[in-house]
Amino acid sequence: MGAGEQSTDNVLSKALATVQAEVDECFDALLPVPTEAHAKLVEAMRYAAIGGGKRVRPLLLMATSSMFNVDRDAAIRAGCAVESIHCYSLIHDDLPCMDDDDLRHGKPTLHHEFDEATAVLAGDSLHALAFEILSDSKTSGDPFVRAELTACLASASGHDGMAGGQMMDMLADESEFTLHDITRLQQMKTGALLAASVEMGAILGKVAEEGRQHLRLYARDVGLAFQIADDLLDHHGDESKAGKALRKDEGQGKATFVSLMGADGAKAQAQALVDQAIGHLTAYGEEADVLRAIARYIVERDH
Ligand code: IPE
Ligand code: IPE
Ligand code: MG
Ligand code: MG
Ligand code: MG
Repeated sequence: MGAGEQSTDNVLSKALATVQAEVDECFDALLPVPTEAHAKLVEAMRYAAIGGGKRVRPLLLMATSSMFNVDRDAAIRAGCAVESIHCYSLIHDDLPCMDDDDLRHGKPTLHHEFDEATAVLAGDSLHALAFEILSDSKTSGDPFVRAELTACLASASGHDGMAGGQMMDMLADESEFTLHDITRLQQMKTGALLAASVEMGAILGKVAEEGRQHLRLYARDVGLAFQIADDLLDHHGDESKAGKALRKDEGQGKATFVSLMGADGAKAQAQALVDQAIGHLTAYGEEADVLRAIARYIVERDH
């Protein structure tokens, strides 16, 4: 590894650590525990939302918005909105009716720590919280920006985005999926929220539609590479580092790049996507260095 790459690593670890602390602080302030009977629901939301995750989506949003000099507090709020959707998606993904998992972020999954009803409701409430955050003037004083942020996150979360991709994922064991189908599935279930993170950074920065094209292409490639890396981790990662059960996809009949191309083919595909993603940033100078570092990190990560 050359000196340049080492300093890129430093830039990324610093940026990740800062965003992780800021996201935790923001969720802590957004989720005070009430003294009424539904305190259990808020405790469950906090259990899922505070600590644990890598915060890649907020980091993508922060890295993009900082290129356009967006106020940091506003951007962290928008980052928490995306992360709130992500945390809800993981709670539901782990339920017995979906992937039936016992461990998440090195802790018992939410339905084990609490119960299934609380897990469903905590997911529902984190979903709602995302849009409460985005519709608040603290996220942007401009109502057009708030509306655009809301529309962007809503379409990335719903039937044409994350939830639609999860539906395809659940159907995979009874369908014959081609590479094209799997690409679409993964772009929806995982790529959509990652792409929305970049797009929301650009929306906060008031970048015009035509100025977002390179960033969109970057985000599309990064989103796909991210899920391939997750599937490779499932195939040959280290459970103690991942903080979740691995080697489950094959047994559950999941359709992934690994199941179709084998681990080596999938790894080569992820690396090619990362190189392509970085190639889309040639119009930018060092202001895009964190985005470049995120792309590299996505395939090198061990959790
Ligand atoms: C895991 O996402 C689920 C996928 C969409 C691949 P992350 O790997 O971003 O999860 P955390 O939040 O960092 O644990
Ligand atoms: C989950 O994908 C994607 C979501 C939308 C939550 P996985 O099922 O592969 O995620 P992990 O491996 O459980 O984190
Ligand atoms: Mg799943
Ligand atoms: Mg899962
Ligand atoms: Mg997985």
